[in-house]
Amino acid sequence: MSVIKSSAFQLLSNPQLDRSVSYDREGRTDILSDTAFQVARREIMSWPGYSETPLRKLPKLARALGVKQIIYKDEGERFGLGSFKALGGAYAVFRLLQQELKQRKGVTVHSKDLLSKLFSETTSEITVTCATDGNHGRSVAWGAQKFGCPCVIYVHAGVSEARCRAIAAYGAEVRRISGNYDDAVRQAASDAAKHGWHVVSDTSYEGYLSVPRDVMQGYSIMVDEALSQLQEKPTHVFVQGGVGGLAAAVCSHLWQRYGEQRPKYIVVEPDKADCLYRSAAAGQPTVVHGALDTIMAGLACGEVSLLAWKILQPGADAFMTITDDAAAEAMCILADARFGDEPVVAGESAVAGLAGLALAASDAGSRASLSLGPDSVVLLFGTEGATDPEVYQRIVGRSADVVKAAAA
Ligand SMILES: Cc1ncc(COP(=O)(O)O)c(C=O)c1O
Repeated sequence: MSVIKSSAFQLLSNPQLDRSVSYDREGRTDILSDTAFQVARREIMSWPGYSETPLRKLPKLARALGVKQIIYKDEGERFGLGSFKALGGAYAVFRLLQQELKQRKGVTVHSKDLLSKLFSETTSEITVTCATDGNHGRSVAWGAQKFGCPCVIYVHAGVSEARCRAIAAYGAEVRRISGNYDDAVRQAASDAAKHGWHVVSDTSYEGYLSVPRDVMQGYSIMVDEALSQLQEKPTHVFVQGGVGGLAAAVCSHLWQRYGEQRPKYIVVEPDKADCLYRSAAAGQPTVVHGALDTIMAGLACGEVSLLAWKILQPGADAFMTITDDAAAEAMCILADARFGDEPVVAGESAVAGLAGLALAASDAGSRASLSLGPDSVVLLFGTEGATDPEVYQRIVGRSADVVKAAAA
């Protein structure tokens, strides 16, 4: 039985996985660690508007897929920004300003000092910039406005006007370039070098590691919340991948918490932007060229983040690819409450994990290779709500407000 009609998918067991290896080896704690997590947690929890996002149980969908429970951590309301990305980019802006103030003034500041604009004379001279397909740029712009520094955001040709407006609403200058996401990353880097701006990117590469580390560390608040909200330990986690920062943050947190006994970990990508899948198959970071024209805008990335890869290569159990049609169906399943659960508003990039689960659970070979069965408790991260309301309405056939009203 298949709950998703568009049944094309790929599943690759990670050839580099070794579950017996401890997290504390091979420099992984220099990337993400419990100490850095505690610092991030303290800062982010002090921001106005912080509250835990809810877990949504989908017991009827679980029954249809032959698993015990499906739990969906719904990030649609995070800080009013609509996605989990609110945790990463804004935290990295804070950390950058904190380091600059230490260097320039010799002071150690916390979020509350910047929120009260105590050092605005200095922060107004520090410009932050990044490339984005929507959500990360919104977070950086929001953080820049909140902490008092100028911001320039680069978007590629495929980013919708609605997403650009959502970024500009936080006072950032938005610049559109031709080419894909990776071209926008390069343009932001070269303009930053020219003007003395600071790049706050969610992807890391050789020589640019410290900021994306902070971005990922911010994401781990979401994982920690989910684990403390859950009543039982998940047996499986399906999570979507763009450059891999989110997937690495979740994997790292589970690995640090549960070691060898961590849940089975499956990273799901669009088939049109499958850089993590291809890297796993090749045993090394592998670039996907081209337009990367998937509806899953947040996952339209062709190059893995170097730091994320250092965690995912040894830590993920499997990699999957799914089609745009499968993602659209998964959005509708949640919006329509097709199996009788509460309706959930989930954006295009939020549902790749759910689509991956639905496809794998409906295929005998994949069920067996992932040990999915009637005792499986599956955790999903619904990483965005309807961050592009026009696209959401086009796919689901109703506005997010109508779906929300049906859930109330
Ligand atoms: C909603 C959403 N989910 C998942 C991701 C993937 O995150 P990453 O690029 O860190 O893999 C993104 C990235 O922008 C996103 O916007």
